Amino acid sequence: MSFLEMLDVLNEGFVAKDEEPVVFDHDCREGICGACSLQINGEPHGPDRGIATCQLHMRKFNDGDTIVIEPFRATAFPVIKDLMVDRSAFDRIQQAGGYISVNTSGNTQDANNIPISKEDSDLSFNAATCIGCGACVAACKNASAMLFTAAKVSQFALLPQGKLEANRRVLAMVEQMDKEGFGNCTNTGACEIECPKGISLENIARMNREFMAATTEG
Ligand code: SF4
Ligand code: FES
Repeated sequence: MSFLEMLDVLNEGFVAKDEEPVVFDHDCREGICGACSLQINGEPHGPDRGIATCQLHMRKFNDGDTIVIEPFRATAFPVIKDLMVDRSAFDRIQQAGGYISVNTSGNTQDANNIPISKEDSDLSFNAATCIGCGACVAACKNASAMLFTAAKVSQFALLPQGKLEANRRVLAMVEQMDKEGFGNCTNTGACEIECPKGISLENIARMNREFMAATTEG
């Protein structure tokens, strides 16, 4: 069974005994939504690479193993209950600038009419695969949200549609990230290793360049 099905079984046992089930986050259970979390034996999303907790299976463990399950740990992700943490700080970073403004007057240019190089579209798409799970924060000794924020900045920074608001976007998203209490990046790289979507550290370098340019250009 999957790891979350194991927790379902655990909870069915509690419910049968009229006891409180263990609270944990989940939704799609197919690695898409980013709702599942869990620090499993000290690693965000458990011992496998390139998957979210909902894609982890019990065959990864041996019979009789003791499995330690904790909520993601970060000051900016306060625990709601048991294994569920509040990751709305990510929503507020996204709301600060993770969008583009589109002219809806009737003269809107069809997106398919705007030429974009294959390299840029691939890099942008890769950045856009971030599911906002927060494993990067949980993996980081500084509880930094740089990989998440950089993915969200990069997906627009690489496209012509994102260039117009690029300066304002990166400044606002970084400001919100700092306001939420996330730590800074010290290039350890644990975030990239634990990220279920393989978001590259190169995005952090790109965000830093975008930030420097925005600070210089105003
Ligand atoms: S960068 Fe990776 S680990 Fe961080 S929120 Fe996005 S998908 Fe999750
Ligand atoms: S429940 Fe949606 S990614 Fe795990």
